[in-house]
Amino acid sequence: MERYPKLFSSVQLGSLKLPNRAVLAPMTRTSSEPSGLANDRMVRYYTRFAKGGFGLIITEGLYPDAANSRSYENQPGIATDAQADSWRPVIQAVHREGGKIVAQLMHAGALVQHGAFTPIAPSAVKPVGTMLEDHGGSGEFAVPREMTLSDIRQAVHGFAEAALRAKQAGFDGVEVHAANGYLLDQFITDYTNRRADEYGGSTERRIRIVVEVLDAIRAAVGPDYLVGVRISQGKVNDFHHKWAGGEEDARIIFTRLAAASPSYIHTTEYKAYAPAFHEGGPTLAELAKRYSGLPVIANGKLGEPDRAEAMLEKDHTDLVAIGTSALVNPDWVSKVQAGRDLHPFDHHFLLPIATLKDEEVMAQE
Ligand SMILES: Cc1cc2nc3c(=O)[nH]c(=O)nc-3n(C[C@H](O)[C@H](O)[C@H](O)COP(=O)(O)O)c2cc1C
Repeated sequence: MERYPKLFSSVQLGSLKLPNRAVLAPMTRTSSEPSGLANDRMVRYYTRFAKGGFGLIITEGLYPDAANSRSYENQPGIATDAQADSWRPVIQAVHREGGKIVAQLMHAGALVQHGAFTPIAPSAVKPVGTMLEDHGGSGEFAVPREMTLSDIRQAVHGFAEAALRAKQAGFDGVEVHAANGYLLDQFITDYTNRRADEYGGSTERRIRIVVEVLDAIRAAVGPDYLVGVRISQGKVNDFHHKWAGGEEDARIIFTRLAAASPSYIHTTEYKAYAPAFHEGGPTLAELAKRYSGLPVIANGKLGEPDRAEAMLEKDHTDLVAIGTSALVNPDWVSKVQAGRDLHPFDHHFLLPIATLKDEEVMAQE
């Protein structure tokens, strides 16, 4: 008897038929060329996860436009055709191993920690916390400039253009990063969005830009292409944030997103299996399923396969995304399937910064 029957059962995700329900979570590794082009080290890094059995790989966050969207030095982009084309060897290598790969589109908004330009954001609110040392930053963030309506239109357009470039380069889909404190999450979040226009105020208005991004992408890539959206409460610079409206906010957010017809919703919480709001209540993944009716990928401390299987078995999620455990077990899927022990993840693995380590990019046979 298979120990994890649900985890290792196949699943249809939009247009993709996947052999199992384990997804590689998106993880920024700031190892591209300074120009934002993907390189050979990245080909080798991503190939390991496909070889290791992950049915679906989500890339690290790629910046969609050249104007304002990049967060980090050596973060890869998909803002130009050359950047999109630089992913072709990664995509081909993943496909050769039988895997599928989705490009995550991530606009920094206020969370910029490179260069000397003024970031843009829904409102001129300095981000809480300090820059991410894992990604080479230190000290406080800059105060961003409040986006004009024209900035908003441009950012939405930038996502759609980037999605089209991803499709043309051969990616199997795109995921819109609307989580973890970056631009779109800054719109969703009450304390970073103080706008008085149609993009601020009520939860319905704060989610509006994400719906517009999904609509614009759908119009650009057509009805059948895989388009996901990632949502969280916590942020890289504010781990413990909770939506003030609780489950009612979840209802508004997930029903509005579903109306834009994404192919899936990806929820991330520190612990995906913990109640989203109150003791004994539903998880964020369950709420996403309930209110969107869409397939859901849950993420957060699910590298322990018993936990992943339990969430899948209870139908609280359709797929699980594995982050840090996959970094130290790129063959997480084959190991779990074979009943082999997993290496424990330790944050030291990412020190001094989260760039690719030599052992992660060794030539494959
Ligand atoms: C080094 C590192 C980089 C990350 N970069 C991204 C990113 O680019 N986009 C994103 O949505 N999440 C990013 N995350 C968050 C992960 O996708 C995931 O949510 C987190 O690691 C929790 O999952 P886990 O408990 O399985 O590790 C990153 C996490 C790590 C450790």
